[in-house]
Amino acid sequence: MKEFKRYTVTSALPYANGPVHIGHLAGVYIPADIYVRYLRLKGKDVVFIGGSDEHGVPITIKARNEGVSPQDVVDKYHGIIKKSFEELGISFDIYSRTSSKIHHKTASDFFRKLYDEGKFIEKTSEQYYDAEAQQFLADRYIKGTCPHCHNEDAYGDQCEKCGTSLSPMDLINPRSTLSGSQPILRETKHWYLPLDQHEAALKKWILEDHKEWKPNVYGQCKSWLDAGLQPRAVSRDLDWGVPVPVEGADGKVLYVWFDAPIGYISNTIEWAEKAGKDWKKYWQDEEAKLVHFIGKDNIVFHCIIFPAMLRAHGQYILPDNVPGNEFLNLENDKISTSRNWAVWLHEYLVDFPGKQDVLRYTLAVNMPETKDNDFTWKDFQARNNSELVAILGNFVNRTAVLTQKYFEGKVPALGSIEPFDRETLNDLAHYKDKVEKALETFHFREALKEAMNLARLGNKYLADTEPWKLIKTNPERVPTIMNICLQITANLSIVMEPFMPFTAEKIRHLLNIGAINWNQLGSHQLIAAGHQVGESFLLFDKIEDAEIDAQIHKLQETKKNNQTQTKVNPAKEVISYDDFSKMDIRTGTILEAERVPKTKKLLKLLIDTGIDKRTVVSGIAEHYEPEKIIGKKVSILVNLAPREIKGIESHGMILMAENSQGELGFISCDKEFNNGSEIR
Ligand code: 2FM
Ligand code: ZN
Repeated sequence: MKEFKRYTVTSALPYANGPVHIGHLAGVYIPADIYVRYLRLKGKDVVFIGGSDEHGVPITIKARNEGVSPQDVVDKYHGIIKKSFEELGISFDIYSRTSSKIHHKTASDFFRKLYDEGKFIEKTSEQYYDAEAQQFLADRYIKGTCPHCHNEDAYGDQCEKCGTSLSPMDLINPRSTLSGSQPILRETKHWYLPLDQHEAALKKWILEDHKEWKPNVYGQCKSWLDAGLQPRAVSRDLDWGVPVPVEGADGKVLYVWFDAPIGYISNTIEWAEKAGKDWKKYWQDEEAKLVHFIGKDNIVFHCIIFPAMLRAHGQYILPDNVPGNEFLNLENDKISTSRNWAVWLHEYLVDFPGKQDVLRYTLAVNMPETKDNDFTWKDFQARNNSELVAILGNFVNRTAVLTQKYFEGKVPALGSIEPFDRETLNDLAHYKDKVEKALETFHFREALKEAMNLARLGNKYLADTEPWKLIKTNPERVPTIMNICLQITANLSIVMEPFMPFTAEKIRHLLNIGAINWNQLGSHQLIAAGHQVGESFLLFDKIEDAEIDAQIHKLQETKKNNQTQTKVNPAKEVISYDDFSKMDIRTGTILEAERVPKTKKLLKLLIDTGIDKRTVVSGIAEHYEPEKIIGKKVSILVNLAPREIKGIESHGMILMAENSQGELGFISCDKEFNNGSEIR
């Protein structure tokens, strides 16, 4: 394996249009942070780049919906995201943003260089334009009828009902979501990156030279490459983003997926300026290893499009690896921002103060490395109670307590070593290799399993040697045993650091030691005899059912709300116009209203229909007080055959809207029309 001098590690820049959730963490930020912390512990020169992705259409849509500016939206979420990452201990060297000046300049210069060197194709095509709003429409700004399932609210890029990917031209009866008008086709010029010209080189680079990439990443790349690459537009007609730095390109910005990955570079430049480093050494030097941590929806952008951009530019290295993960589900359901089906990091940090490592641990154990995986609150509780508390916490605590008890907190000297001690120390010596090998190949679950096995080894050693009995029967053995336990504990402070940095720090505090280099992992001479350890305290607390039930309840409420919001009855069978026109519906006014005795639901109404004044019995008593609806304008079906209800003859029916929660509302005309006006 090639030895690199420097490491440039990036993690996908999250869109600043919402907070970060556990799916993002398990897929991208936890593995990236584990990897980086490990490299730093090994003394490597590494820069860890993060930041918010602040451009793109969803941000402009959110801003419009909320009646604020796109900058307001990204300011808000950038703040929330940055703070919550910090609190979780994601150890970025910089967490910046793509709305920064330095990013605009970097992205703009990048584009301009490629433009000047003729690396783009210019193409004019017809795109939908909203003549009323006077702007071209991004795919998401166009709605229409899905050609597959006839959903009338399909977007220009996707029908959310049947899941089909669409292009705006596929929509039947397209309409602009800006003005509601029917968009027209208009010519517009854009710049395209000719991916086809990079295809052969990318094929060799990935399919031949990077067979070691994770199978899910390699497989997706292969299917893209096998299908053949097409030129891709890298500009958009939009007023939010990095302006296209070319004359006559007013109203055009760089496509968000062109500027976002350049954000990794701009953020490195920003970091280097502050840290007094040379950013080029991390991006333009073959001795730097570039690694992108991403989720599976980002694979094509990081493995094909961004590398093609970097190749076109000519001065950059390409990623050495792109460890992309699959998705994490929540309680057996896809995490969804729009359905609020997520565990949001900033909320977790409030609900579980001081328990950052419990989340880090659970997400690392369940990391969707090879396939989608599931997070459940019960599993979270079990991982805490039966692994962190019962294995790691228990071993460290027993070691600390016994050291205080038998040796007043002073590390006892190692005495004579018996075969069982020797065996344990041999085992200990092997952990470095095992964990390292897994980390270097991005097998984080395996690495963490091995790290926990070290705590298991400690527990087993204690349980088998039983120093609390030996102290009475064979006290000379106890110093050796406790020395070994303390050495294992010190090793745990190293091996746990990448996964659970807060816990590693606590262990160091407990042992009263400073940070230890990764390369000392496996040694049984980490703390000297006579060293005074600190006071003992518990590393982890049990999580009680009530806390978990509260979280589950919160999700159940979300599900209930979603169901009531989305449950819409399907359309009834088609009828002819003649069928419809048989109904005589009129505007009317309620003149009198009273409850029908001995019923809960019924009101007896006297309605002025313009034709006559008639009695109608209506099932609205649970929704309206009779005295409050006198004078109300209603719609009434006047030619419905009379019916006797509770001994009252009812002549017609008042039309009511009913939502999915069963609430009723009157249908009335929005103008002051005379009673008897026809509704058709
Ligand atoms: O999928 C996403 O959330 C994108 N914002 C990731 C961008 S990664 C990089 F290119 F900046
Ligand atoms: Zn559809």
